[in-house]
Amino acid sequence: MSLKQKTRELLKKREEVQLGGGEAAIEKQKSIGKLTARERILGLLDEDSFQEYDLFVQHDARDFGMESKQLHGDGVIIGTGTIYGSPVCVFAQDFTVAGGSLGNMHARKITKIMDHALKMRVPLIGINDSGGARIQEGVNSLAGYGEIFFRNTLSSGVIPQISVILGPCAGGAVYSPALTDFVFVVDKISKMFITGPEVIKTVLGEEISMEDLGGARIHSEVTGNAHFFAESEEECLAQIKKLCTFIPWNNGQKARAFPPKEPKADYVVENIVPSDPTQPYDVRDVIKGIADDSDFFEVQADFAKNAVIGFGRINGETVGFVCNQPLVMAGVLDCDSSDKIARFIRYCDAFNIPIITLEDLPGYLPGADQEHAGVIRHGAKILYAYSEATVPKITVILRKAYGGGYIAMNSRHLRADFVFAWPGAEIAVMGPEGAANIIFRKEIMSAEDPEAMRKLKVEEYKEKFANPYVAASKGYIDSVIDPSETRKTLIHAIDISKNKKDGRPKKKHGIPPF
Ligand code: HXC
Repeated sequence: MSLKQKTRELLKKREEVQLGGGEAAIEKQKSIGKLTARERILGLLDEDSFQEYDLFVQHDARDFGMESKQLHGDGVIIGTGTIYGSPVCVFAQDFTVAGGSLGNMHARKITKIMDHALKMRVPLIGINDSGGARIQEGVNSLAGYGEIFFRNTLSSGVIPQISVILGPCAGGAVYSPALTDFVFVVDKISKMFITGPEVIKTVLGEEISMEDLGGARIHSEVTGNAHFFAESEEECLAQIKKLCTFIPWNNGQKARAFPPKEPKADYVVENIVPSDPTQPYDVRDVIKGIADDSDFFEVQADFAKNAVIGFGRINGETVGFVCNQPLVMAGVLDCDSSDKIARFIRYCDAFNIPIITLEDLPGYLPGADQEHAGVIRHGAKILYAYSEATVPKITVILRKAYGGGYIAMNSRHLRADFVFAWPGAEIAVMGPEGAANIIFRKEIMSAEDPEAMRKLKVEEYKEKFANPYVAASKGYIDSVIDPSETRKTLIHAIDISKNKKDGRPKKKHGIPPF
């Protein structure tokens, strides 16, 4: 056979294998609003950039009738390509082939591309659409997952790892996404759970739909497992590409810089924050008044909404914003918001992204519910993450900074590089009302008019302590700034921190309050 004939044969074979589970299975996939594994990869990568590997890999299972079964590509597509011209490694499980279930060779394909990503120091994007461990392959499937989890852990903090859940992600399979940096989900399509509704019914006698158990909304709003929620697969792919514009390709690089752009005129920070500390406002508007082009890419937007985290740019450079959200529960810290904030700080620190903290909070949320849910150990994660982080860390105290919240939100004491405060900032052990009630109790109780005395003492306390000047007099705050100068001040602070060098004692690793 001539080379030409052999090439023709290759192309024919390729076409056949690339059809995955065949037209009927593809039709079924499409009928529920899903793209095929190949369409997903091609939709994500730059045109003509995809290079596929291991197309002709076959499973090696010999039990339960598998010996006579052909599984094209063994249910997963792997390869390399580019996003905005920069290289990435990808895998996409193909549900049309044995439900995208993971057996030995399927896992080996995934681990091959994972090894490649780590060696080449490029991001890994994994598209999950699978019924989980291939039941016919028994312990070989479990071994495959173990090999994936180990590599996820090795790569953590070295290259960005992005998981996309575009179908079922069942059983132990969920732990790979959980070990990665960002998880993307799509409404009505993503399903993530350890044990499915049938097992729950058998074991617990409870009926629950797959959607209510582990649908996209549940993981975006309740569990916090997902970081980005989309209405459609196309929107999801666009979100992944947008994320890629904000992050560096590995921990030895900085994110790509863009031409600076002024924020939009609609967001004037000094008009957004009310002077009355009891009045709420949306801290995202303040971010938009600071960030280039008012472009804020929020992470975990629907989970623990009392905190706001996400990426933006200041003068063209990527920064991570970590903020309290006075619009929700006055911006208090609780278990979930502590987890959300702490993990994001660690991401930014691992990938050389300066952190801007916008602070306005009355402290940690009181109550037995929070105490029993472990607010002590969850809250400690923020202290740990900020203290450990050595990237540039800049804080702006917009209004309230009370108690543990003051310390936790990147205070000087946790080694903030710069702490700025607006003139309306109130920095104190607790809110004036509570403080006055405690320290002036005797005077209030014995006064002729206790209520009038209480008011007087609250005012007295406010005057003395609930302002930024006591902290400024000790150097805990570097400058009390005119709010309208916030962006300018931050640009300067980031600029001056460009070559920051800071270290921590050498150790194998710390023991964070996981
Ligand atoms: C082998 C599987 C499979 C699996 C699906 N298939 N899951 N084959 N092992 N785990 C096959 C089906 O037999 C079927 O093959 C094809 O994929 C499509 O599946 P359907 O059931 O027809 O699709 P659908 O109705 O959409 O349901 C999807 C599903 C369901 C919800 C994911 O298939 C399901 O519940 N699967 C099992 C999920 C699960 O419990 N996995 C956990 C495994 S244990 P044919 O040939 O008919 O087309 C685990 C532990 C790992 O993962 C621990 C690691 C630490």
